[in-house]
Amino acid sequence: MPPRTHHRRTSISDVARHAGVSVGTVSNVLNRPDRVSPGTRERVEAAIAELSFVRNGSARQLRAGRITTVGAIVLDISNPFFTDVTRGIEERLTADDYTLMVASSDRDPEREARYLRLFEEHGVRGVMVVPTADSIEHLLAVRERGIGVVLLDHPSPVESVSSVAVDDVDGGAMATRHLLEQGHSRIAFLNGAHSIRQCADRLEGVRQALADAGHDPDEALVEIPVSLDADGGEAGVRTLLDAPGPTAVFCVNDLVALGALRTLRRSGVSVPDDVALVGYDDVTFAAELATPLTSVRQPRHELGRRAADLMLRGGDAPAEHVVFQPELVVRESSTSTTR
Ligand code: RIB
Repeated sequence: MPPRTHHRRTSISDVARHAGVSVGTVSNVLNRPDRVSPGTRERVEAAIAELSFVRNGSARQLRAGRITTVGAIVLDISNPFFTDVTRGIEERLTADDYTLMVASSDRDPEREARYLRLFEEHGVRGVMVVPTADSIEHLLAVRERGIGVVLLDHPSPVESVSSVAVDDVDGGAMATRHLLEQGHSRIAFLNGAHSIRQCADRLEGVRQALADAGHDPDEALVEIPVSLDADGGEAGVRTLLDAPGPTAVFCVNDLVALGALRTLRRSGVSVPDDVALVGYDDVTFAAELATPLTSVRQPRHELGRRAADLMLRGGDAPAEHVVFQPELVVRESSTSTTR
C-alpha cells in the first residue's frame, strides 16, 4: 500500500481566504453565527464544506479555557470486560460534558506509549490506563506534564497515583474454593502470561486456596498458558484432553472459558458432569451460554465509573486507591448433578 502522504490540515485562515472574509468572521460563523449576515454565513459555510475544514478540538478547548477530553487505554477493547468498563467511564464523563477517546494497548508497552503521546498531543485532561507493565515511571512523567493519570483495573504501586482495581487474588481463591467444594482435587487453570498483573494475581489466589485446603499446589494445579481469548480456551482444552487428569477447569476470563466450553462439547466431554468449568468477569454472555457459566463477577461498570470520578476531581485532591471485591456467580457449568 503506498505510504499515506501527509495532508496539511485545512486551517481557519484557508477558509477565510477561500470565502473572501476575515478569520474573525469565520470564527463568528463557527461560534456566534447570529452575529453574521445570512449571505456571509452561507459563503463561509460553503467554503468550510468545499475545503472539508474540521475544527481543531484541542485548540478550541484551550481557547474555551476548559479541556473536555479524557483518554483511556485498555488492554483489549474487543474483550467485553473492557467494553463494559469503558461504558461506565463514558457515562460518568458525559454527565460532566466530557468526551472519551479509547484505545487498546494489546498488552504492548510500545503501543501504550504511542497512545499516551497521541492523547497528550491532543491535549486531554487526563488518561486512564490499564498498565502493560508493573513500572509506571512513564505514567508519572506524563503526570508531571500536567496530564491527570488514573490506573484502571490495576492497584497503584505508588501512593500518589489514584487507582481502581478488583482483588484478583481473592477472585482466584473463591473460584478454587468452589471447585474444591464440588469435590475436585485436580484443577487445570487456563491462564495468561504472568507479566499481566491480573493473571499473576488470579494464579496466586488459586495457589493460596489449594494450600489453605491442605493440597500441594504443585500437585493439585495444572497451569496451562493460553492467549486471553476463545482461541486460547480451545488450545488449552486440547492440551488438557491430550493429558487427562484434572476434572475441573478454571479460566482466567470468560472469553477463554467460552473457547474451552466450545471445545469440550465438540470433544464429547460433558460439562459439568465430566469436567466442571469456571470463568472470570461474568460478562453478559456468561449466563446466556447453552451451559450457563459459573464465573467470578467483576463490577465492570462501577469500576469504570469510579475511575472517571477520580479523574474528574481537582488536581489537588489526594490520591485514592479503590479495590472492589469480586463475587462468585454459580451456574450450571460447575455444579454437577451426578457428583
Ligand atoms: O485482560 C485480561 C483480563 O483482565 C480481562 O479479561 C479482565 O478479567 C481483566 O481484569
